[in-house]
Amino acid sequence: MDVDLDYEAFRAVMGSFASGVAVVTTRTPAGEPYGLTCSSVCSVSADPPLLLACIRTPSRTLDVLRESGVFAVNFLDAHGREISRRFAGPVQDKFDGVPWRPGTARGVPVLDRVLAHAECSIQQLIDAGDHVVVIGLLVGGDVDRSRSPLGYWRGSYMQVYRMDQPGSIRVEVPEIVEPHGVGDAEMVVELGFGLERIGL
Ligand SMILES: Cc1cc2nc3c(=O)[nH]c(=O)nc-3n(C[C@H](O)[C@H](O)[C@H](O)COP(=O)(O)O)c2cc1C
Repeated sequence: MDVDLDYEAFRAVMGSFASGVAVVTTRTPAGEPYGLTCSSVCSVSADPPLLLACIRTPSRTLDVLRESGVFAVNFLDAHGREISRRFAGPVQDKFDGVPWRPGTARGVPVLDRVLAHAECSIQQLIDAGDHVVVIGLLVGGDVDRSRSPLGYWRGSYMQVYRMDQPGSIRVEVPEIVEPHGVGDAEMVVELGFGLERIGL
């Protein structure tokens, strides 16, 4: 079977699973911050509290993370598209102009204006194909319940609203999706109007 075809099929299938967007951060022993945009983050265990992030190799952030043994996962809110792009790009100093502070548990960079952050110490690193699965033990964190998440689905950023609180549903079609293709845009706009009908 054609390898490229396999890769496209894999991307199409896995891209169908909607996620949030996070910035995984770490620091050198001297305190210099590093980070990357990461959507492959998931909860692993409640007791002990473990989460994972999958990081593609090579990665500057992963190199520093291996050395420091600590990292933070910063969950972006609906206004976080620019931050997401910045931490996914080839920018030399990704933190330039981005407000952040050292986390209280391990001094790992915590971004301002995020939904929540988790400070972690590395529990396990597992090589898996072209990625490394980083499993972290939660050692600190915080949640801001006033914010709503930035979503990511089939290569587009999304706004996400709660369906169990109809009054809070806000439909701003141009903001709902940043289309990469007309097909996706049509699909999401339809969904947006659907939510509006259910909610009001
Ligand atoms: C929405 C989005 C999600 C991403 N998710 C991941 C991911 O889960 N794992 C990963 O390794 N890279 C992911 N990336 C790509 C990295 O952010 C990108 O390769 C980054 O430049 C790596 O930075 P570094 O080499 O400085 O560590 C994602 C990018 C975007 C825009």
